[in-house]
Amino acid sequence: TSNIPSYKPDIESRTPPYPKLLKRLQEVRRVLGSSRPLTLAEKILYSHLDNPEEALLSNTDNGRNIRGNANLKLKPDRVAMQDASAQMALLQFMTCNLSSTAVPASIHCDHMIVGERGANVDLPESIKGNQEVFDFLESAAKKYGIEFWPPGAGIIHQTVLENYAAPGLMMLGTDSHTPNAGGLGAIAIGVGGADAVDALVDAPWELKAPRILGVRLEGQLSGWTSPKDVILALAGKLTVRGGTGFIIEYHGPGVDSLSCTGMSTICNMGAEVGATTSIFPFSTRHIPYLDSTHRSSIAVQAQTIASTPSITNLLQSDDGAEYDELITIDLSTLEPHVNGPFTPDLSTPLSQFSKAVKSNKWPESVSAGLIGSCTNSSYQDMTRAEDLVKQAAAVGLTPAVDFFITPGSEQIRATLDRDSTLSTFEEAGGVVLANACGPCIGMWRRTDGIAKGDNNAIFTSYNRNFRGRNDGNPETMNFLASPEIVTAMSYAGRTTFNPLTDSIKTPSGAEFRFSPPSGVELPISGFAEGNPAFLPSSAAPNPSTKIVVSPTSDRLAFLEPFSPFPAHELKGLRVLYKVAGKCTTDTISAAGPWLKYKGHLPNISANTLIGAVNAATGETNVAYDIDGSASGIPELAQKWKDKNIEWLVVAEDNYGEGSAREHAALQPRYLGGRVILVKSFARIHETNLKKQGVVPLTFAKGEDYDLIDACDEVSTVGLYDMLQNGGKGEVRLLVKKQKTGEEFVIKTKHTLSEDQCGFILAGSALNLLAKRKSS
Ligand code: F3S
Repeated sequence: TSNIPSYKPDIESRTPPYPKLLKRLQEVRRVLGSSRPLTLAEKILYSHLDNPEEALLSNTDNGRNIRGNANLKLKPDRVAMQDASAQMALLQFMTCNLSSTAVPASIHCDHMIVGERGANVDLPESIKGNQEVFDFLESAAKKYGIEFWPPGAGIIHQTVLENYAAPGLMMLGTDSHTPNAGGLGAIAIGVGGADAVDALVDAPWELKAPRILGVRLEGQLSGWTSPKDVILALAGKLTVRGGTGFIIEYHGPGVDSLSCTGMSTICNMGAEVGATTSIFPFSTRHIPYLDSTHRSSIAVQAQTIASTPSITNLLQSDDGAEYDELITIDLSTLEPHVNGPFTPDLSTPLSQFSKAVKSNKWPESVSAGLIGSCTNSSYQDMTRAEDLVKQAAAVGLTPAVDFFITPGSEQIRATLDRDSTLSTFEEAGGVVLANACGPCIGMWRRTDGIAKGDNNAIFTSYNRNFRGRNDGNPETMNFLASPEIVTAMSYAGRTTFNPLTDSIKTPSGAEFRFSPPSGVELPISGFAEGNPAFLPSSAAPNPSTKIVVSPTSDRLAFLEPFSPFPAHELKGLRVLYKVAGKCTTDTISAAGPWLKYKGHLPNISANTLIGAVNAATGETNVAYDIDGSASGIPELAQKWKDKNIEWLVVAEDNYGEGSAREHAALQPRYLGGRVILVKSFARIHETNLKKQGVVPLTFAKGEDYDLIDACDEVSTVGLYDMLQNGGKGEVRLLVKKQKTGEEFVIKTKHTLSEDQCGFILAGSALNLLAKRKSS
């Protein structure tokens, strides 16, 4: 319980390279003219350009139209990887034969830990079950000089916030909630493993310059409303597509009323509206957080920079900076929200929720409440929930349903343990799970009798609520809310309950109503360090470390390079499947039990598109071959691969929304997919497809989706020329109907840059990278 930490992190590698960034900012000012006001996101992003002049002036009407047009080639400061995605990133990195990573990097073992009976049982069992993968990651980390956070150390985004996020930093993370670090003033972008490899090998990482969506915060939060409600309400306004192509930049007088961790919760869930990332400006609320997490020197440097005139102030936007869109939220009048089921943008103010339950015939009883996760496990979140638990305990109440708590890191767990918050939860019957993703990523083995197919409602303080995500049951409705609302709902056991106005009967028959929760922003006696075994390994590379992958392993397999694009148009492709409705990365590459095959491409490919709905029949994962025989989608893909029939998938809007999971691009490629043709793409997934050599095309006219069906034959017209011309030129598709033999041409659009055309031609980005390194 000592307040003097023994852990001495390597502060130098954790401090953003401020002198270099400030110099770059000057260069950006010179290129764009010093009087031009810039937003905060622009300042940080453009200060990380490999070559500001080239990026900001070409393709941008001489710098006037940068956003949405410029191709930014960026040099991020740092990379973070979670265990599931790190496997493939490292397998790819290894093929480049470098002795260490070019930028500081970290690995976090959090996605493969089960949540069932509590941390003490679940963690050792999960380690045992995944030993070979953790050993692989640890040995690769040692060899290449990557900080390795072992299983139990915490969830990537919480650990990054506590250790690596910093004002002005730019980092990539192989997980879609990487923008969590924007709460501490960083530009943090969720990417696939192949993008992370770009940064790890010092190749510039490319991004179409995002537009900036300003969110002005006014007033201040009070009572039951929490930072989570800011993003829940915003998700309702923007929808899952509304942030696509944007960085969300928060500003205004309400910012300083939020805690640093509250800002991170808001940025975390910017992923749910498709935003490239989200960011808060440097705020006085960041200083105590940096101080309490061993980073006072960063706080001092950030304060110095933030107090300079706007011309050199990297950490705040300039006066008069313009946003492409602007939304104002008054924190003083904001009420708690509940989002779901099945999509994070179905947002209902709490006061309307019971009406919505009745009119939509959602279940009226709650089956479980789960708080914590990377989104909401700060000291403030947990102490506010604790306050409610104490209020209820004082009148003899315990939660009416199973109540689970997931701390985001060992640091937060140990601190909550020391300060008796966890024992308060446990005395009430709550189960404290491991410091890991657990139920948030399908690793929840339920013991409450709810079987697959049972319609039921859970409340979570997590960020994502697609079907089947938590317990593998597509009928579980996950309603997203703040930890406070989830806690209150767990006591009531009724979805129609509104803790602001309704009461619960106590064992003595009296009516009890919760008072608004109150919590503590940061622990008064500082953060506890916790179990030293959970601290990271040193980051010095050790080239003699051997990386072992057994040739008989079903979990890990070294990668075989994909073959290059043929020197001609694609002929005789077949439509493998026409998808109706939502097609997320969970749909394309399911998580849960499949996570264990993340490092073994042939094995994980057996889950390809198994969640996709057949547009012709309404069936899920039922594909029909040319002769009419039915099978699962991956089985048909494999059958066609064996016969050398290459294929495409046709789908609707926001294809690949959800996560940065690059397997959703690798698997179709491995099974012979050449083209994905959709009404629109989610940004990260579209980039991932290009990196793996799959051509992402969108319909020039969305209604052409109706013209094309499964098993139709498709040939490209103009694709090969366009690729050779660095993205210039039109691509059309010649479609031959399988049923009638009728032929017609449809127009498509693409967003391939010159470099990305190179990826496709070489077979994958990695092939191109390896070719450049060896030449
Ligand atoms: Fe893990 Fe869920 Fe966050 S999977 S990283 S806790 S979104």
